[in-house]
Amino acid sequence: MSDEVQTQSAFTPRVFSGIKPSGGLTLGNYLGAIKRFVDMQGSGIETIYCVVDMHAITVWQDPSELRRATREIAAGYIASGLDPEQSILFNQSQVSAHAELGWIFNCVARVGWMNRMTQFKEKAGKNAEKQSLGLYAYPSLMAADILLYHATQVPVGEDQKQHVELTRDIAAKFNHDYKVDFFPETEPVIQGAGTRIMSLRDGTSKMSKSDVSDASRINMTDDADKIAKKIRKAKTDPDALPSEAAGLEGRAEARNLVNIYASLQGKTLEEVLPEVGGMQFGTFKPMLADLAVDKLAPISTEMARLMDQPDEIDAILIKGAEKAREIAQPILERTYDIVGMLR
Ligand code: AMP
Ligand code: TRP
Repeated sequence: MSDEVQTQSAFTPRVFSGIKPSGGLTLGNYLGAIKRFVDMQGSGIETIYCVVDMHAITVWQDPSELRRATREIAAGYIASGLDPEQSILFNQSQVSAHAELGWIFNCVARVGWMNRMTQFKEKAGKNAEKQSLGLYAYPSLMAADILLYHATQVPVGEDQKQHVELTRDIAAKFNHDYKVDFFPETEPVIQGAGTRIMSLRDGTSKMSKSDVSDASRINMTDDADKIAKKIRKAKTDPDALPSEAAGLEGRAEARNLVNIYASLQGKTLEEVLPEVGGMQFGTFKPMLADLAVDKLAPISTEMARLMDQPDEIDAILIKGAEKAREIAQPILERTYDIVGMLR
């Protein structure tokens, strides 16, 4: 056991993660997040998965579309194998303690730390002055999501690493300022071939729900035909696939497709390269399309079934929120006591 793990032994291991309902789910969300949420379920560690609706409104969301997208992410969780009996599934706004701890962390985090957040810089671009204050403060709400449950492990895609590191900084500063050992040092869990899935049109940009081109991504709601078509049309190069990772240097699109192939099977890039090495894309792409349809079609079918039963989804989220509150409320109250709030 490493020293790192031992220093955390005072905290019971607990997994927390979340996805924003700011549009539909992509293959990137599935491979970088949900599939790994499912893998961590039932490992003996408590797992809590949230639909982070309060994060979504950091940019404008149409209210009825937000409700629909919140249910769709929940449906994606359940259809992919998250079981409300084994994991706590809920939407963030039903547990008000997130916002309350978020405020306290706004008073712990420093403006200079926020200024270093690359996601804000990317999203805000040249228009930083016009962004909501919430978008800027977003990472401290994310720290609250995690630390409200004393979560020790956070499975996320590569793009969220900096935010989990900031969560550790906030926990450390809080513990230091108030001379307590109250919040754990959370570990980001970023493993496997699926932690950075790229656009099908451009291997140097991340697959994203907000990309203007629908052909750039596979949506979790795409049917078999669409999935196969998008993979067939995915950008590639004229060379055959290599049998070793070094052969993917400078071939971002080829690397991405092999990563998708590996990750869909829960394998590493190195594990699949001997199998696919030497293949032309004309052979590889249909094989990848079959695999993707095989894995994703049952999920999208189940998502569609659930979306026709919104009451079923809502009931699961209401029950999950009750369970989440039972963990969160005592931690929030202890935090208030530590900070000196009179109750
Ligand atoms: P978001 O959709 O931005 O709320 O992201 C939810 C989760 O999906 C986070 O853990 C992200 O890191 C992950 N994620 C989003 N896009 C990708 C991608 N293209 N590749 C891998 N993981 C991703
Ligand atoms: N910031 C994450 C994203 O954009 C979503 C998120 C919010 C999250 N709170 C979280 C992820 C807590 C993990 C843990 O993808």
